[in-house]
Amino acid sequence: MPTLPVSWRELEAAAEAAMEPRAAGYVFGSAGTEDTALENLRAFGAWRIVPRVLRDISQRDLRTSVLGMDWPAPVGLAPIGVQNIVHDDGELATARAAAAIGLPMCVGTVAAHTLEDIAADLGETPRLFQLYWPTDHELAESFVGRAEAAGYGAIVVTVDNAFPGWKPRDLQNAHLPFIHGLGLANYFADPVFRASLEQPPEEDQGAAIGRFIGVFGNPALTWDDLDHLRASTTLPIVLKGILHPDDAREARERGVDGIVVSNHGGRQIDGAIASLDALPAIADAVGEELAILLDSGIRSGADALKALALGADAVLVGRPYLWGMALEGAEGAEKVLRFILAELDLSMALAGCVKPGELEPGMLVRRP
Ligand code: FNR
Repeated sequence: MPTLPVSWRELEAAAEAAMEPRAAGYVFGSAGTEDTALENLRAFGAWRIVPRVLRDISQRDLRTSVLGMDWPAPVGLAPIGVQNIVHDDGELATARAAAAIGLPMCVGTVAAHTLEDIAADLGETPRLFQLYWPTDHELAESFVGRAEAAGYGAIVVTVDNAFPGWKPRDLQNAHLPFIHGLGLANYFADPVFRASLEQPPEEDQGAAIGRFIGVFGNPALTWDDLDHLRASTTLPIVLKGILHPDDAREARERGVDGIVVSNHGGRQIDGAIASLDALPAIADAVGEELAILLDSGIRSGADALKALALGADAVLVGRPYLWGMALEGAEGAEKVLRFILAELDLSMALAGCVKPGELEPGMLVRRP
């Protein structure tokens, strides 16, 4: 008998019940009334799959190539910060889960473990580094250089988080992990960050946290800054948090390699468009030239199928792997990812397709 709930709604409820309230507020909280988080789910429900039958579906192959990397399936792990709030092993548990399947992991800047330690646990597993671009450009370049050295295959710049969104659950709990020094391993280990301090973080943690708060968000960032990043790395550059087709076009003009269509799981702007609803126009605008990833609301293999059919090259799973981790650590996260992959494989086959490249908009209709 499975020890983890197989239905994602039951899994979600079990995880919430098992979590300490502040951790649950952090994971489940979204911006404002949390309507955008709900809208992400409703958007998937509005598209219906119209299966085709009597095609040979005996052999399927989920493998795909994204941003020059070979992925075993068009599914990766979304970057999630400060994962030790959910489980002591944090990002290392996630890395073990990803590595057990070979699924690509997008590792966050704000993590309890360094990007090098996480890479070590990932082994040969494809990985991407999510960059929160600090106000100190030299620090940004240092992060990027470290990611290159540790075998990351792309830099994913999150562009929708210049300020953290208005999240009532975290506000109510007065929950801000950084002020306790949580999630700052990449900063505290960084030579450029350390050189900017009078005392090392081990000796004066308060000052190091103060410095972090000063450099973390960069609301002055503009498209022109991307030129510096482009010049400082040969890795593919991906912008995470694109919802407007004109921003997708601008990304293409600026030499960006890919985008993540994402509203950050509804955590930034209450009332924002669902990622899935933003996808078709963006795929029309840049789908031929840019890699398109999508996150926000992927809960099942059927959800992944819909996003792939509407033009995503791959999807990123976010909260669900945390739910598995909250209940059973690395093994729990791995099981959740395997559930999603198994359902994607089955749904694809039962809809009449044998590989991701065959998924196309014509196999979906909008609910009348
Ligand atoms: C996130 N997300 C996120 N994104 C990012 O670029 N850097 C980060 O550090 C974080 N941290 C983070 C923490 C928590 C608790 C959550 C739930 C999310 C956003 C994440 O990458 C992704 O966009 C969303 O999780 C997608 O929404 P769903 O599918 O998880 O609801």
